[in-house]
Amino acid sequence: MNERLDAIRQEILDGIKEKANSRATAFELRKQFLDSKTGKIGQLMKEMKTIAPEDRASFGKGVNELKEWALEKFTELDEKMKTLELDLRYKSEKIDVTMPAKEICTGNLHPITQMRNQLIDVFAGMGFEIYEGTEIENDYYNFTALNTPADHPARDMQDTFYLSPEFLLRTQTSAGQIHVMEAKKPPIKILSPGKVFRSDDDATHSPMFTQMEGLVVDEKITLCDLKGMLDVFVKKIYGEDTTTRLRPSYFPFTEPSVEVDVSCFECGGKGCKLCKGTGWIEILGAGIVNKKVLENCGIDSDRYSGLAFGIGIERTAMLKYGINNIKLLFESDIRVLKQIDDN
Ligand code: PHE
Repeated sequence: MNERLDAIRQEILDGIKEKANSRATAFELRKQFLDSKTGKIGQLMKEMKTIAPEDRASFGKGVNELKEWALEKFTELDEKMKTLELDLRYKSEKIDVTMPAKEICTGNLHPITQMRNQLIDVFAGMGFEIYEGTEIENDYYNFTALNTPADHPARDMQDTFYLSPEFLLRTQTSAGQIHVMEAKKPPIKILSPGKVFRSDDDATHSPMFTQMEGLVVDEKITLCDLKGMLDVFVKKIYGEDTTTRLRPSYFPFTEPSVEVDVSCFECGGKGCKLCKGTGWIEILGAGIVNKKVLENCGIDSDRYSGLAFGIGIERTAMLKYGINNIKLLFESDIRVLKQIDDN
């Protein structure tokens, strides 16, 4: 009998040595011996009945001792496995705080959005409110109300994408001027950013580009107000040392009309490649709102006058960031875009 008990004892020791390598396997092993129904030691207890009565006492004692011993062994084993598993976890989850951190790549806003935001900041600081018009306009708002009736030669200045005889993709954010003046009476001070479309495509022109329209209508608005505002704008965008000059120009919806130059921020006005030796760079069109346009919107042109300007956002950004081809702004090449982080 004792041999059987010894054999089980040996089997347990071997099992512990060879099979147990985790808490789960140790538990399985324990069940093989100590499970009250199926375990080998449990089975021995059931054999009690078949043992000769005189041997029963010593058999019972032997089995109990084995059971006690096994219990102790398996408790010890479980503790050992617990420590082992914890050690493994500590090792696998160890954090080396001296390791350099993984680089996190954050994106930045598109240069056109950056420039748009900067312009909005500058003009919002002067009290302008934002009006966003629609990209599809009808002929009246884009041209006729802006003193450019059908057959007017100035229509040729902007090669238009017509959607139908009546509807078109707006060629200028100036269309928004009419909507605003129809909806609101002076004083008016709005800034209108948005996409515009013209059939035009070369290194500095794209069929879709972005403009920022400014419109101020109030009593006694003059070209001086225009120049003052544009001076603030160029100083904020191109540097404190820059200034503007106005040259006569023509737009049907402004009278007088001006082309606005900024003093060259590259050479300070001495003349360089950027300003083509002139010391000045053309940046936008502007003027005093044509009386006819005010009247088209039901505004008393004897009492009120207005100023308007149209800034090309791509052009402003290209000049500021030294971009020589407008396509670079539309190709979404990360290598180019990530170089321009100006906010
Ligand atoms: N709408 C004109 C253009 O796109 C620019 C402009 C706006 C001129 C407002 C004068 C006043 O060319």
